[in-house]
Amino acid sequence: MKQRLVEPRLVELLHRKAQVTETPISGTFELSPLCNMDCKMCYIKMSKSKQESIGRLRTKEEWIELAKEAREEGLLFLLLTGGEPFLVKDFKELYIELHKMGFCISINSNGTMIDEEVIEWLKKYPPMRINMTLYGASNETYDRLCRNPEGFTQVTKAISLLKENNIQVKLNCSVTPYNKDDLKEMIDFADEHDLVIQATSYMFPPLRKDESLIGQNDRFTAEDAALYGAYIGAYQNGFDNFKAYVESGELSIYDLNDDCCAIEGEGDIMRCRAGLTSFWMTWEGKLLPCGMIPDNGLNPWEVGFKRAWQNANRVVKEIRLPAKCAACSKKKQCKACAAMVYTETGTYNKAPKYKCDMTNYYAKACRQVVSNIEKEKEGEYVEEFI
Ligand SMILES: C[S@@+](CC[C@H](N)C(=O)[O-])C[C@H]1O[C@@H](n2cnc3c(N)ncnc32)[C@H](O)[C@@H]1O
Ligand code: SF4
Ligand code: SF4
Repeated sequence: MKQRLVEPRLVELLHRKAQVTETPISGTFELSPLCNMDCKMCYIKMSKSKQESIGRLRTKEEWIELAKEAREEGLLFLLLTGGEPFLVKDFKELYIELHKMGFCISINSNGTMIDEEVIEWLKKYPPMRINMTLYGASNETYDRLCRNPEGFTQVTKAISLLKENNIQVKLNCSVTPYNKDDLKEMIDFADEHDLVIQATSYMFPPLRKDESLIGQNDRFTAEDAALYGAYIGAYQNGFDNFKAYVESGELSIYDLNDDCCAIEGEGDIMRCRAGLTSFWMTWEGKLLPCGMIPDNGLNPWEVGFKRAWQNANRVVKEIRLPAKCAACSKKKQCKACAAMVYTETGTYNKAPKYKCDMTNYYAKACRQVVSNIEKEKEGEYVEEFI
């Protein structure tokens, strides 16, 4: 089975070229950890008082100063994220300024604040894409997972407005115990609206919020993450294709991205884009190779972008991945990445047990999903346990 194409071919080629010179062609500005929702598995959302106890939010002028320096070093693709970016003070002005600087901008959003007024300026300065996360197929599910009882109404309105005004939207979907029963409806919703949806059942432990939560989150058990990973494959590819794929025996976890997954040999360095062609600028002021690897970032507002980028590049090259993963016969199917290793174990040298369990269950989960869907077609009620 193939991943659906989400990234244009040209973007991929530019990244390959940037890799030769280790140019930071792509970067994320995480503007704030604040949000108007409160998703149970979220790795970043915090209260205003907790944010203030950690540090201050950067001003529009500071982000623009950073963008200018990053552009000098080759930044072209800029992702704005949070928290909820549309909640950030002066977001409109910041976005327009960044747009005028010539960046290809994408915005991660929960969609709840995209109304007619926002559409007016997005239309005038169109982003490359809005990545909107869909958290359910009803207000009840939004209430359960995101503590927002009007979320689905708000998001469906935003999607209609964006589509009517020809603003590109892609849907993301984080699948958890709280929205799992809506999975098929969410994928059908995307199909009906002719939108690409990228769903995943793997949720990182939120070490960015709380360092003590190594290997923990309010998320699926590893077995259920494998099961719902398999359901994603079945619903996105159609049952017949999925069944043929399962029967072929070459199973690799469908909903994880090949680009990010790079455990190739003992002592090998990371092979994804993190720190080689892309960076993640946290709201607290650390320039990291990846937003899920929370240590060793320098502050570019203090040392300059170039030095902070060189540091991220060095950090990535020093990371050596677990020997157990390097020797593992399932590493191609597993697609574990350095960020998973770190957030699951608190180090880079221990194999992440949650991912091992997920991988070990995956083949069984796929066969279970085939059987469950066949029974459902025959009208039988199915308990979804493995
Ligand atoms: C942190 S949110 C920020 C942007 C916006 N608020 C949104 O929800 O799309 C970015 C993405 O990360 C996902 N996410 C949140 N917590 C996660 C976790 N622990 N592991 C993996 N993805 C997570 C969200 O579902 C969303 O798709
Ligand atoms: S909407 Fe995004 S930032 Fe807000 S709580 Fe949910 S995942 Fe976190
Ligand atoms: S199954 Fe476990 S040991 Fe093998 S690559 Fe995945 S995480 Fe590493």
